[in-house]
Amino acid sequence: MTLKTAQLKVSRGTAEEPSRYDEFCVPFEAGATVLDALIWVRTHRDPSLALRYSCINANVCKECTIAVDGKVAYACTTRLVADRVMVLDPLPGKPRLRDLVSETRPPRERLP
Ligand code: FES
Repeated sequence: MTLKTAQLKVSRGTAEEPSRYDEFCVPFEAGATVLDALIWVRTHRDPSLALRYSCINANVCKECTIAVDGKVAYACTTRLVADRVMVLDPLPGKPRLRDLVSETRPPRERLP
């Protein structure tokens, strides 16, 4: 199978610091997802990248929800493309905890 290369711009930072984008080139085979690429980045390039997921490609837990090219999407079901840069951000309208992880719990369910 032929490997392609995805170009990812990944938003980084915390609520206390200005955000920035880090760029990663990720090899992938047809059918690979954004979550596959983010796990690859953590394994091979930057273990400090924060992301959230649970069920991996089952589309059940909804933990991997992020913004892909400005649209809310599941990282585990969004396919990688090789013909353009993909921009990944935390969920819009939610407080960022770190990198691609947003606070999604209702306030009454958070520990003080
Ligand atoms: S990892 Fe569970 S829905 Fe994406």
